[in-house]
Amino acid sequence: ESIGVIGIPFSKGQSRAGTEFGPEVLRNGGIVRKLQSLGCHVKDHGDVEVIQVENDDPEEKAKNPRTVGQTSKSIADKVEQVLRSDDICIALGGDHSMAIGTIAGNARVEPDLVVLWIDAHADINTPMTSDSGNIHGMPLAFLVHELESYVPKLSGFEWLTPCIHAKDIAYIGLRDVDAGERKIIEKFGITAFSMQEVDKYGINEVVERALRAVDPEGKRPIHLSFDVDAMDPTLTPSTGTPVIGGLSLRETYYIAEEVARTGRLSMIDIAEVNPLLGDEKDKTLTVDMTISVIQRFFGNRRGGCYPPGYDIP
Ligand code: ARG
Ligand code: MN
Ligand code: MN
Ligand code: MN
Repeated sequence: ESIGVIGIPFSKGQSRAGTEFGPEVLRNGGIVRKLQSLGCHVKDHGDVEVIQVENDDPEEKAKNPRTVGQTSKSIADKVEQVLRSDDICIALGGDHSMAIGTIAGNARVEPDLVVLWIDAHADINTPMTSDSGNIHGMPLAFLVHELESYVPKLSGFEWLTPCIHAKDIAYIGLRDVDAGERKIIEKFGITAFSMQEVDKYGINEVVERALRAVDPEGKRPIHLSFDVDAMDPTLTPSTGTPVIGGLSLRETYYIAEEVARTGRLSMIDIAEVNPLLGDEKDKTLTVDMTISVIQRFFGNRRGGCYPPGYDIP
């Protein structure tokens, strides 16, 4: 199994500096080496080219539309290229607007993909329903066919057409959903497991139901978009929009192990690591927790594992 890693040093999908250093701190945390030690063939393809447009005035409420739109195209092109040579792509972000490009790029190679969105937030505001104007709260709105007529063509987004349907998305971990987002989830029947459902059914039932809802036959490629704020802020404090009451480490590991077990993972986004928030200890904890979760997606099961071909010496 070959893994292609890319970095997306980008923060213009939201208002705080720092997520552009996400790729650097995750690489320095040893992500490539740690995946290699699991027996994965890992290639680091470097960083995506980020485009900064001057005088990038808001459109509707969306801030930095040209910068985000053009960077998203650069991301999509890179992801497509990586997935044509490697089996799985890991994108180290970057704020969560990164998913516009990663999902668009993945869908060019895997048009039948489904999306598992692990996040405190639904990130499906339109440029009109958003309160903040931050595009990291909108990525799914640009990608979903059903929302096409609700989403204006922003400057910078001319290249993008919707590539997934509402029924192809499942959320896990929600606990801060805006009114417009809740309406969208209900109107288009998006599968959504908030922390309330995690408490009610338990994480095992939630993961099983989420996977079954988007793909009853269990055949489709999975795009896993992981916002580190899905986890409780005691675990991943260095992130821009923390929300208390999040996934435990064990619940997050469980999601990762079950997704790994499907053998259908096609791409992972790692979004919203912001090493400029919190103190040194917060930063180290956030990076360590995030890397430990990533490893669970690649066969580092809590029950133990060994590299392919290994036998008792
Ligand atoms: N719903 C809020 C907004 O639209 C927060 C979004 C947070 N998104 C994220 N990727 N952390 O601004
Ligand atoms: Mn979030
Ligand atoms: Mn369609
Ligand atoms: Mn998010």
